Amino acid sequence: MSLDDVLARIDADLPDATDRLLDLLRIPSISTDPAFKTDCDRAADWLVADLQGLGIDASKRPTPGHPMVVGHVGDSGPHLLFYGHYDVQPVDPLDLWDNDPFDPQIEDTAKGRVIRGRGSSDDKGQLMTFVEALRAWKAVKGDWPCRITFFLEGEEESGSPSLVPFMKENAEELKTDIALICDTGLFESKTPAIVTMLRGLLGEELTVTGPTMDLHSGMYGGIAMNPIRVLSGIIASLHDDTGRITVPGFYDGVPELSDELEAQWQGLAFDHETFLGDVGLSQPAGEQDRTPLEMIWSRPTCDVNGIWGGYTGDGFKTVLPSKAHAKISFRLVGDQDPLAIRESFRQVVRDALPADYEVEFSGHGASQASGADTSGDMFEAARKALSDEWQIPAAYIGCGGSIPIAGHFQQILGTEPMLVGFGKDDDAIHSPNEKYDMESFHKGIRSWARILDALS
Ligand code: BES
Ligand code: ZN
Repeated sequence: MSLDDVLARIDADLPDATDRLLDLLRIPSISTDPAFKTDCDRAADWLVADLQGLGIDASKRPTPGHPMVVGHVGDSGPHLLFYGHYDVQPVDPLDLWDNDPFDPQIEDTAKGRVIRGRGSSDDKGQLMTFVEALRAWKAVKGDWPCRITFFLEGEEESGSPSLVPFMKENAEELKTDIALICDTGLFESKTPAIVTMLRGLLGEELTVTGPTMDLHSGMYGGIAMNPIRVLSGIIASLHDDTGRITVPGFYDGVPELSDELEAQWQGLAFDHETFLGDVGLSQPAGEQDRTPLEMIWSRPTCDVNGIWGGYTGDGFKTVLPSKAHAKISFRLVGDQDPLAIRESFRQVVRDALPADYEVEFSGHGASQASGADTSGDMFEAARKALSDEWQIPAAYIGCGGSIPIAGHFQQILGTEPMLVGFGKDDDAIHSPNEKYDMESFHKGIRSWARILDALS
């Protein structure tokens, strides 16, 4: 039986594969919200049962947070690890969804058929592309392509608090020749791609407190400094007029683009006007002396992800609040040190507080940027397999998002990560109406079959 037989089997099995994915998507495994703890557990159980049904020795492994799913199969050939995450982001604002985020639907749109629902693209649909490829392989060939370890996480979207201890405790079990990660996208929604650099992420939440209680803004407005004004002033000062971030030491460890990468990226001819135009924008807003691709792939950022305080309900209330809050994240590149930046940022805030004002901080994860060494033969083999499936030469690209495990594979296990995914820019990951194109799902499964064939 040949690879073509496996591909034909994938084509024939697509309706059933879709049904299995819809089943998994119905489980609201929101990792950041404790209210969904049992649902995260259920998603792990679902995956264990599915893998076991395939004949894989899989189990749910407890952690202080959400469980990991680990499975092993095959006993000869190269040893591959496959990583994906079964947890999803919160769904709010719920009123902007056209359907229940956990009642997934198949929809025909002007751009083709899509699977709509939270986690369809990030990352349940993507992780199932690999599982389905292996299912078809086993059904057709009666055997496994090589040794494969599954490692599925349930905390990726909430900073992976249990990941490093788990990897250290189970290092021997998780060490393989390469780690395949399916959690990224195509380049410009059409070109297959292997991601060679990911940004790191530092999350900070802060509460600025001024007066001991909420005040009437007629009585105290003018004499009492408003904590929202203090906080927004600090936030406004984090960037200068050219788009640079002003936190002292922030750019320590930020490398310049190598000539090789600069040439590669120029060859990609990124169409930033379409990229921005698709979301109603036209002006690249990063450091003004940088190219659009540098802004999203190789330069660090600072973003406010949430800000609140005072009265935000319906109607109007003349309050001068006691407290103001914000959630701020920094995307990091190169050798930027998340903990040093955390300290420097906190000092900036403390130094900017007026007398009588206090600030409290809590950290939400701190991961360094990571990159993959693509010199091994496996990368060229995977690139060829992807190019064959999509009939477009596969590209090496950057990714502005963060997948903390990629760096941990290198640092803890000494394993090179290979990041291959099939998401599209308009998948609305982390947003209302998230979707995964049927094309991504179908060709994603076929791509893994080709990659398994090439690597084994
Ligand atoms: N799948 C994404 C990473 C990603 C983002 C890939 C954009 C391609 C394009 C991943 O699940 C994710 O969202 N990661 C978080 C990490 C964080 C919560 C620690 C991120 O980047 O915000
Ligand atoms: Zn993801």
